Amino acid sequence: MSVTTLTLDEVSHILTRASFLEAEDPLERAKRLAKRKIALLFYESSTRTRTSFELAAKGLGSDTTLVSSLSSSIEKGETLKDTGLTLRALGAEAIILRHPNSGSPWLLEQETRLPVLNAGDGMHEHPSQALLDLRTMLNHLRPGVTQVGPETLAGVTVTIVGDILHSRVARSNMLLLPRLGARVILCGPPPLLPDVAVDAGPGIEVERDFERALAQSTVVMMLRIQAERLAGLQLDLEEYKTAYQLNGERLAKFAPTALVLHPGPIIRGLEITPEVADGPQSLILEQVHHGVAIRMALVERALTQKGGQA
Ligand code: CP
Repeated sequence: MSVTTLTLDEVSHILTRASFLEAEDPLERAKRLAKRKIALLFYESSTRTRTSFELAAKGLGSDTTLVSSLSSSIEKGETLKDTGLTLRALGAEAIILRHPNSGSPWLLEQETRLPVLNAGDGMHEHPSQALLDLRTMLNHLRPGVTQVGPETLAGVTVTIVGDILHSRVARSNMLLLPRLGARVILCGPPPLLPDVAVDAGPGIEVERDFERALAQSTVVMMLRIQAERLAGLQLDLEEYKTAYQLNGERLAKFAPTALVLHPGPIIRGLEITPEVADGPQSLILEQVHHGVAIRMALVERALTQKGGQA
């Protein structure tokens, strides 16, 4: 449920299984979890995470069902606990949960005693996204490597840019990448990256000047401004774009060889311009592609062993 619960050996195992399952004959793969029942429980909207978890579970042969907050008894006031117990009574053997409250996967796991996979909990974590981001980076920077250790990303600088404060993707990456030796630079204006982040932890630095950060970057991870979590915070978007938008001119001048990542959804013309999003340095769709393999490995793990689920 958190990348912090995974040892580097476990991360390596997930990366290795992802590659194995991706390459496996689909008919053989579909026998692995044949007829196992998995519920997707989504209290927030999602395109990438929901679809890729569903394709991953189905690819392993599972039956899946989707419960979303807008078309279920959650609308009538049913609690997370009661919804979870209902899904268990219906035969669910694991639950994939996206929820606006931090820590909700732990609560649901306690109440249902089922494996719960964290598909994003509030502003806390998005572990499967960090794992697929890692797979994307390794694919380009350390091709063929699935066994990772404390030096795997030595010499790599990953700059995470934008709405760090509200981003569970940023948090999971900040918690994972320095353990593999990467240097992480956080970059954004004070309202989206408060000064307390200066002490975010070992291997993590703050650089408020985007162009100085870009010039040091092996990887640039752009983030969307999470309008749904701003809670009244007013931002001047034109000022924001002037300081932090990744456009073609900036990329060419300060980071002409950097890999460009974004967890999506992207807001074209705000944090990133179309020429960059669609350009040769962009790995945004490759990230989406890696989501299915990583989530196959996570779903298989959840249903074949207990504890320490990401
Ligand atoms: N990256 C991500 O979580 O995207 P979705 O919200 O579409 O799932």
